[in-house]
Amino acid sequence: MDIRGIDHIEMFVGDARQAAFYFGTAVGFHLCGEGGPETGLTGQRSLLLRQADVRMVLTSGLTAEHPAATYVQRHGDGIAVVALEVDDAAGAYAELVGRGATGVTPPRTFTGADAEVVVAEVGGFGDVRHRLVERRGSRVEFLPGAVEMLPTPPGVDAGPLTGIDHLAICVPPGQLDRTVRHYREVFGFADIFTEHVEVAGQAMNSTVVQSPSGQVTLVLLEPDTTHRPGQIDAFLAQHAGAGVQHLGLSTGDIVAAVETLRSRGVRFAGTPGSYYDAVEDRVGRLDAPVDKLRELGVLVDRDHAGQLLQIFTESMHVRRTLFLELIERRGALTFGSGNIKALYEAKERELAATAAAPQGVGA
Ligand code: FE2
Repeated sequence: MDIRGIDHIEMFVGDARQAAFYFGTAVGFHLCGEGGPETGLTGQRSLLLRQADVRMVLTSGLTAEHPAATYVQRHGDGIAVVALEVDDAAGAYAELVGRGATGVTPPRTFTGADAEVVVAEVGGFGDVRHRLVERRGSRVEFLPGAVEMLPTPPGVDAGPLTGIDHLAICVPPGQLDRTVRHYREVFGFADIFTEHVEVAGQAMNSTVVQSPSGQVTLVLLEPDTTHRPGQIDAFLAQHAGAGVQHLGLSTGDIVAAVETLRSRGVRFAGTPGSYYDAVEDRVGRLDAPVDKLRELGVLVDRDHAGQLLQIFTESMHVRRTLFLELIERRGALTFGSGNIKALYEAKERELAATAAAPQGVGA
C-alpha cells in the first residue's frame, strides 16, 4: 500500500452554499464542481472547492437522516473525511481492513470519458473516515458522474494557499497511545515527534504521525488529566468527541497571505507583543521583518532543519471547534516546541474572551 498524499478533505456542514461563500470570499477558494441528487448523490448537496493543490468538498444533508446531517447535529460543522490518494484503492482497502481498520464503504468505481476513479472508505478516528482514492487517466474530473465540473469563472486569481501541510486532531484522554499505534500498525505511519506541553496549570500530550511518503502528517493531541482541564478538553466537549481541531494550510508567503485573508474578514488569533522581544534569541536570525510579523501576529519557530512561520485563525464555528492554520516552512521539516505553547496561550485568550462576551448581536 502506497499512500501518496492527501487527495482532498470533506467537511460536513449545515449549509454547503453558505460555507462555500465563506471559504470562497474570505479564504480564497473557488467553486469548481457540484453534485447532488441530480448526479446520483442521494440526499445531499456537495460543492467542490479548490485552491492550488487543496481540494475541499463541502457536503450538507438534505434530509435529517443523511449521515452529513446526523454528523453536524452531533459535532457541528467539521472535517468528516480525510481522503488519501493511493495507487490501488481496492488493494489498500483489503490490506487496511485485514490489519484491523473498520471497513465503511467497499471499493466503488466512477467512470468518465477519460478518467476512472476508485474510492473506498475505512474508519479513522472518532466519526472521521479515511477515503482511499485511486485516480486513473485525466486529473480534471474529481468524481466522474457524481460531481459535475464547473468552468473556472474569469478573473479567478491563484489564492495565497498552496497545499495541506497537516491536520491536528484531538482525542479523548487515554486514547493518544492507541491512536498512534493504530496509525503505525494499520496505516504504516511513523511517529516522528512527541512532546508534553504544560501551560498555566494545564497540560497536553502530543505525537506527530506521518505516512512513509512524508506527505500525510497528523498531529495528535490528548489532554493530560493530571492537570486542570483546558482547551483540548473544551474541544472534546464542544465537538462531542475526537475530531479535527485545525487544518494546516501551506503558503509560500505568510505575510502576504495573512494580509489578504485579514482584508477579507478572516480573524486571526492575537499574539502578545512581548513574544517578539526575544524571538531571534530563540530561533536564530530571521530574514523576515520582525515588525511585520509582530503587526500581524505571525509566530516563528524552528526545528533541527530550519525555521517555520505559523499563524492560527479564530474558529469560524459557533462551537469554537475547527480552525485553520497558515504555515510557511523555511527549511523546517517538523514542528518546533515553542509555538504549541504560544497557540495554547492564544486559544486561552480567545476562549476567555468568548466566555466573557455575550453571544449575539454586537458580540
Ligand atoms: Fe498545526
